[in-house]
Amino acid sequence: MFTNSTQGYGLISVLFHWLLALLIPGLFALGVWMVELDYYSEWYHRAPAIHKAVGVSVVGLMILRWIWLRLNPRVLPLMHADWEHLAAKTVHALLYLGVLLLGTSGYLIATAEGQGVKVFDVFEVPPLSAEALFERQADLAGEIHVYVAYGLMALVVLHVAGALKHHFIDRDATLRRMLGKR
Ligand code: HEM
Ligand code: HEM
Repeated sequence: MFTNSTQGYGLISVLFHWLLALLIPGLFALGVWMVELDYYSEWYHRAPAIHKAVGVSVVGLMILRWIWLRLNPRVLPLMHADWEHLAAKTVHALLYLGVLLLGTSGYLIATAEGQGVKVFDVFEVPPLSAEALFERQADLAGEIHVYVAYGLMALVVLHVAGALKHHFIDRDATLRRMLGKR
């Protein structure tokens, strides 16, 4: 089954979830590593190019995933306490928000001198203007980018801890559902 039903996630949602679950922490690790690179490293230009291209792709996938979720029947929550349901939904919403903020701040860093963002050799996201939109654009957007990135990783840890708690302590189907089981 490709689509979601009230009882569980379909193949498309499952693939979106696990692809992004690999790419997002991967982008974080790449980001932390690349800002420490020496100018003479062969990765000095290549790593940020990959980071930006994958980053733009992740934002695009996250938007497509959200649209797909809205087009499908709503997957009914399992029987949980109200606070747990609310906590899970809040964390999911913040995960989307975090990725969007990283996309926006990343774009503002990358386009601060009027360059576009090349997404591999497929297309280029153009800059909004030929010069910076505001003073110290790259610095300010860079600071926001770092804080949001660390905040997002903290949320991911919380999210994974929740999934593991359901699986190993409550022994319910929450994690199995995200593996495509109904
Ligand atoms: C989920 C998405 C993303 C994550 C988790 C992420 C994470 C990070 C991290 C951890 C750093 C290192 C920051 C530091 O320690 O100084 C970084 C740097 C950077 N990111 Fe991202 N990023 C994401 C998306 C993007 C996107 C979409 C773009 C551009 C379109 C982008 C552009 C940059 C740039 C240019 C830097 C270098 C900043 C500097 O030189 O200080 N990132 N990112
Ligand atoms: C190994 C890491 C991960 C595990 C074990 C995991 C587990 C799960 C599980 C079990 C659900 C279903 C919750 C439910 O039905 O109420 C879920 C949903 C979700 N997960 Fe994860 N997850 C992981 C990583 C991530 C990452 C890195 C992100 C994005 C930053 C993410 C974003 C989401 C979102 C937004 C949902 C809500 C459903 C949707 O919008 O498609 N997850 N996750």
